[in-house]
Amino acid sequence: MALQLPASQETEQGEPAMKELYQSADWKKEKHVPVIEIQGKPAKDQSVRILVTVGKEIAHPNTTEHHIEWIELYFHPTGEKFPYLLGRATFASHAASVNGPNTSTIFSEPEATFKLKTGKSGTVHAASYCNIHGLWENSAELILS
Ligand SMILES: [Fe+2]
Repeated sequence: MALQLPASQETEQGEPAMKELYQSADWKKEKHVPVIEIQGKPAKDQSVRILVTVGKEIAHPNTTEHHIEWIELYFHPTGEKFPYLLGRATFASHAASVNGPNTSTIFSEPEATFKLKTGKSGTVHAASYCNIHGLWENSAELILS
């Protein structure tokens, strides 16, 4: 389930609002969308493991010039105003070395596992950042049994 954004919302200076800078799409067709996989059967006050991957169906390039820099995951409990930041995974190795771009053969891959405990159901929101194609988002319902 993708976050529903208004068609147009600008600041007084004519710049798009922050939320309009996030793009979303079907992750099976768009390689930038963070894919959220809530593992197991979430239960109240029990650890829940959430895997977030960018490029699950269609691999995203991972080169010095073009790569995913980070993934963030938020939890927004149902009925509350503010989300909680669960964490940020930063991917720092993209094949660069002292010999230049694309020479090291060392690649961080854009996948991260987060764990949380919650007493409330809600929505998890993932954001990812490509150094060329910007911000992407996706969300999933976390329903406790
Ligand atoms: Fe990209």
